[in-house]
Amino acid sequence: MKKKILITSALPYSNGPLHFGHIAGAYLPADCYARFERLRGKEVLYICGSDEYGVAITLSAEQAGKTPQEHSEGFHQINRELFKKLGIEFSHFSRTTSPEHPPIVQQFFQDLYDNGFIESHETNQLYSEADKRFLADRYVVGICPKCDYEEARGDECPKCGASFEATDLGNPRSKLTGASLTTRKTVHWFLRFDLFKEKLIPFLESRPWKSNVLAFARSYVDEVRPRSITRDLEWGVPVPLKEAEGKVFYVWFDAPIGYISATIEWAKQIGEPEKWKEYWLGAQTKYVQFIGKDNIPFHAVFFPAMIMGQNTPYKLVDELVANEFYLLEGKQFSKSEGWLLDLDDFFKRFHADQIRYTIAANAPETADSEFSWKDFQSRCNGELVGKFGNLINRVLVFIQNHVDGKIPQAHELEEEDHRFLNEISRLTQEIEESFASYRLRQATQLIMELASCGNAYFDKKTPWKEAKREGGRPVLETTMALCLEGLKSLACVSYPLIPDAAEKLWHLLGFSDSLADYTWKEILSLPLEAGKLLPKPYLLFQKIEDELIEEEIQKLQKMHEKAMERKEPPYAPLKKPIEFDDFCKLDFRVGRIEKAEKVPKSKKLLQLEVDIGLEKRTLLSGISQHYTPEELVGKKVIVVANLKPSKIMGIESQGMVLAGSLDHSLELVTLDDLPAGAEIS
Ligand code: 2FM
Ligand code: ZN
Repeated sequence: MKKKILITSALPYSNGPLHFGHIAGAYLPADCYARFERLRGKEVLYICGSDEYGVAITLSAEQAGKTPQEHSEGFHQINRELFKKLGIEFSHFSRTTSPEHPPIVQQFFQDLYDNGFIESHETNQLYSEADKRFLADRYVVGICPKCDYEEARGDECPKCGASFEATDLGNPRSKLTGASLTTRKTVHWFLRFDLFKEKLIPFLESRPWKSNVLAFARSYVDEVRPRSITRDLEWGVPVPLKEAEGKVFYVWFDAPIGYISATIEWAKQIGEPEKWKEYWLGAQTKYVQFIGKDNIPFHAVFFPAMIMGQNTPYKLVDELVANEFYLLEGKQFSKSEGWLLDLDDFFKRFHADQIRYTIAANAPETADSEFSWKDFQSRCNGELVGKFGNLINRVLVFIQNHVDGKIPQAHELEEEDHRFLNEISRLTQEIEESFASYRLRQATQLIMELASCGNAYFDKKTPWKEAKREGGRPVLETTMALCLEGLKSLACVSYPLIPDAAEKLWHLLGFSDSLADYTWKEILSLPLEAGKLLPKPYLLFQKIEDELIEEEIQKLQKMHEKAMERKEPPYAPLKKPIEFDDFCKLDFRVGRIEKAEKVPKSKKLLQLEVDIGLEKRTLLSGISQHYTPEELVGKKVIVVANLKPSKIMGIESQGMVLAGSLDHSLELVTLDDLPAGAEIS
């Protein structure tokens, strides 16, 4: 078995504060895994850092009136603090503006260049004469080439869902100043990802990843094409070619290399500058990446291809743990909509282990999940206090009151005792297997099952009756010795998840050192010394009162309302009047959706087969983030039946389906009684 484990979590952008959605995806699961493998005696290196380059950062910095450095510095520190508060313990937390980073990025490019994987092309880009610079997509607004919506973004239209090049926009303008833009030619360097296809296919086939991750990655490989890896920007790692002066690398080219440069920085800082090689070049290392699902293509396809083009044999990812999204009370976390938690405030009122436990118990491993205040309260009160804390407290208080606060001696075991010991051993083994296979949610459930099992054993053995029964002393002592055995196992298995509570429990069991100084195996087989005096017990978790939760729910609502008041009205301006004759030219029909499926590689588009009475039509509609294909089949919708067909992503769309939309909400206009084909006027 491999002894060294390299763990990385997606490098967070330092252009905003992290929220629990990020934590649930890439950080908490990785931290639990790192703690678990360290406890199993593996040499674990857990690497992360801030992703500081890219247009998102220059844009928000400009909007905040700061330089990108100042802007990024602030969030780098804020996010680092948050990780600390949450007990996320990296071996090293670096940043892509570290001096170690550019030389490695440039070397990566040089190898790809020398090995024939890079080519340059002249491209058209939008240019601001006023600012004397090219403007990236995110800086640009204009008229949608498909639906004429006036506020389309540089890469896609929020109204009709079409995606396009910024140069296709009508009347393109700068988002910051409103100045009109012109088109200019500029040269960019493209990485020939297509040339790696033959290597990427067997690479993916050899990986034991979740089937949805593999399928998603495979669909990218099938259509992989050259991608531009350079940008006309000042903020980034410079491209090391004379003819590329003033250009920097695209952030997704430099960011993953940050995993390597951060490891090199770590090795230097610990005074063993060659040690990074043991992780990145060593055959005895297992490499596990933790990411959110939106990062899958970059980690499963693009970064591996970049590594395949190197002369240095860097490790390819062995395990790619990709999590789904974690929402807040049913909606995505959003700073601009005030839909988030004030984390400074949160940690004044609650403990890291409470949120670690709540997130893990409902981790978004196979489907999106969410944080809700009620669930938080019920997990903390019902499980952490009611089961976990209750077992610890009742056992330790009983020992104080009936065994002079000392670890009792076990005597002859009864059947019930054997059964309890077997259950401890079964559950600890299952918990170990769950952590080892990245099933944090299952590990969490099993930990609580172990606590419940301890409570049930205590109830069954009724030691309080034995205390009164003549001759009951040996049974009482055996029961309490085994209960302590259960608590010791509980401390061990819960350490990766709720480390602070686990360490406290460890001390309550009479150990003065840290639980993390032992290995998993050692802890489980360590005998508890009979006769040893135990410290005075105290409660590890406090109950959360209803009022506090109500206050938090109100606070969230208020913050949201305030943010929405500040926002511009979300309605699109009214369009110019048209003649009645023009309106009559439109042919609206009732259409019955017969089939619906996702368009591969598109976030928004669904391909629909619609019966419009006279014939069947194939329609593309940008509704995939609002409806699943299954719920659409059978719905009757309004189709604009005489629109000329248009091709989107290689598919001909023969008309349009009507839907209403506001902000992020969208709803199809549906009918119940009229049959397919009926005319609407
Ligand atoms: O999505 C994100 O937050 C990116 N900053 C993740 C980068 S991961 C790695 F490649 F650095
Ligand atoms: Zn549009």
